[in-house]
Amino acid sequence: MSAGIASSGTASAAGTRATAPLLEARAVHTYYGASHIVRGVDLAIGPGETVGLMGRNGMGKTTLIRSLIGLTPIKRGSVAVGGTDVTGFAASRIARLGVSYVPEGRGIFASLSVRENLTLAARPGVDGERAWTLERVLTVFPRLAERIGNGGDQLSGGEQQMLSIGRALMTNPRLIVLDEATEGLAPLVRAEIWRTLALIRAGGTATLIVDKTVSAMAEACDRILVLVKGTVAFEGPPATLVADAEAMQRHLGV
Ligand SMILES: Nc1ncnc2c1ncn2[C@@H]1O[C@H](COP(=O)(O)OP(=O)(O)OP(=O)(O)O)[C@@H](O)[C@H]1O
Ligand SMILES: [Mg+2]
Repeated sequence: MSAGIASSGTASAAGTRATAPLLEARAVHTYYGASHIVRGVDLAIGPGETVGLMGRNGMGKTTLIRSLIGLTPIKRGSVAVGGTDVTGFAASRIARLGVSYVPEGRGIFASLSVRENLTLAARPGVDGERAWTLERVLTVFPRLAERIGNGGDQLSGGEQQMLSIGRALMTNPRLIVLDEATEGLAPLVRAEIWRTLALIRAGGTATLIVDKTVSAMAEACDRILVLVKGTVAFEGPPATLVADAEAMQRHLGV
């Protein structure tokens, strides 16, 4: 794909060519000061595809996804969303192209109610549609319906995570990027989050999921990438990764 079609504005970006990946990163390098963290990562996500990003602590997963969505500047390489070159774009501009982020540690507004958190996030998708409404999000997360008037700071960890995912859905994204959405949660709550991600997948919204639970990732993802020291050490279907005991032990420690 040519980068020359870039920056023709959001209207034409919305009219995505059918062949363009939803997100395409090429040879991305990211540094924190002198520390070279992301080292030449290529990554493409097709419309509706669920891609998993795995790897041990500190391998650069969060840095990579922040690089893709404009929160951490990249030093070299390129990132395109729906065929539009977004390299160097501010995160808010990338978000408006239909990329929604559920950060590690959630990022909800503690002083606002569940309802306010959700309605403030609401906007139509790049196609102008509002497939996700407050009602639909509350149907997916009945617990949020029960807590609708509670403040963000009155929610359990699991409920905060649900609210964070609910906020992402309210933006009617084409791609949701989730960083460790199930970390630190009780098993039943984790199961609820995975059920929701399965619903999102079935609904045709693409997701990039960072998580360390191999069994859940194998079920949830179409494809998995494993990051080792900022480079892609494995890319392929979950079954191929799981079948490779040596790679599992070496790259994931399981
Ligand atoms: N803001 C920062 N400034 C400097 N170094 C950072 C910063 N954030 C992360 N790092 C370092 O960059 C490396 C990659 O961190 P990153 O958070 O991307 O890893 P990760 O794969 O997401 O790890 P985890 O599984 O623990 O979330 C680590 O060595 C980390 O200490
Ligand atoms: Mg991380």
